[in-house]
Amino acid sequence: MNAARKVTEDVYWIGGDDRNAHIFEGTIPIPEGVSYNSYLIDDGDIILMDTCDRSVTEQFWSNLLSVLGGRKLGNMFVGHMEPDHSSCIARILEAYPDINVIASARAFQMMEAFFGAVPKNRTEVKEGDTLKVGKHTLRFVQAMMVHWPEVMFAYDEYDGTLYSEDAFGTFGTHDGCLFADECDFDSKFMDEARRYYSNIVGKYGDHVQKVLAKASGLDIKRICPLHGPIWRKDLGRIIGKYDLWSRYEPEEKGVCIIYSTMYGNTEAAAELLAFKLKERGVDNVIVRRAMELHPSYMVADAFRYTNLVFAAPTYNNELHPPMAHVIDDMRRMTVRNRKYSLIGNGSWGPQSQKIMSEVLSSMQGMEQVGETFVFKSSVSAAQEKELNALADAIAGSLS
Ligand code: FEO
Repeated sequence: MNAARKVTEDVYWIGGDDRNAHIFEGTIPIPEGVSYNSYLIDDGDIILMDTCDRSVTEQFWSNLLSVLGGRKLGNMFVGHMEPDHSSCIARILEAYPDINVIASARAFQMMEAFFGAVPKNRTEVKEGDTLKVGKHTLRFVQAMMVHWPEVMFAYDEYDGTLYSEDAFGTFGTHDGCLFADECDFDSKFMDEARRYYSNIVGKYGDHVQKVLAKASGLDIKRICPLHGPIWRKDLGRIIGKYDLWSRYEPEEKGVCIIYSTMYGNTEAAAELLAFKLKERGVDNVIVRRAMELHPSYMVADAFRYTNLVFAAPTYNNELHPPMAHVIDDMRRMTVRNRKYSLIGNGSWGPQSQKIMSEVLSSMQGMEQVGETFVFKSSVSAAQEKELNALADAIAGSLS
């Protein structure tokens, strides 16, 4: 069934929504599904801008054929070779063997490595090169490590569209919302956009900053990412978020208390601290339970809030595994420049706080707030004053 949609008078969206996928990149849960975007510039000369994931191949193919209406596809731009956007390349080459494929040198290498695909006609492009497609002129902008090495954006000088590959994308299906201004983006997409950025691109903030600097010199009227809605209004909203995230600056003052627990005693300490923070006038407090919640949610929290509290028991003289997973993911995604506080528990001999401290203190720009609160088995009444002191320190750090 044809579900192609017009983006402009001669640009079409020909992607699809995947509501059946539960895991992205084999590791990140996507309860809201994900969309895969592909675009067709149809100005007499026709160029396909990336393909789609195999999960939406039939939707993509049907959309493509309906716009082509029996005409031949002459050109295909491949900006990113991760298979969620390149899966249909082999099928395109089979159907249109004379097609001209436009990509970076590295992308052509990956095309062969992934699919054994060696296009008969190819145009290798690099930073600053241009390509005329009818009245459109595509200028190529290298976006290395945003978030793969071969990534190339394309900026259309005719209509001001930036084809931004994974950048400015989000988890979640369109649900009819092709443009970000057709829904309440903040309530429908922002949390998933942050989780997408922090877990997919987050490690490469310095590279994102370089691309944002290049983009600031372009007159961008529209952003067409490969996941999620297209931006045609209020572009500064999402660009501003990317600027903050890639500088590892928090979005808001607030405390995210992350705990793992075996028998409820570490959980009780985390909850008690949350109450004490509220009593001290800290409005923005959230509590995360690490045992069931995937670390990707807490990595996103780390990109959002100024303060993080980690509360975990000792497990066989090591750190309780759910918390170890959370902290390790934060380290790998290079969370930095945050204030953190520690609560350690252990019935034989508390060790968890030492292990958490070792990892967190090794991360760039991380600053511990308050004394580490350590208890054995459960928080005694006599220890409450130590927890009060920790709450005072955290509240003070927010003022
Ligand atoms: Fe959505 Fe890096 O692929």
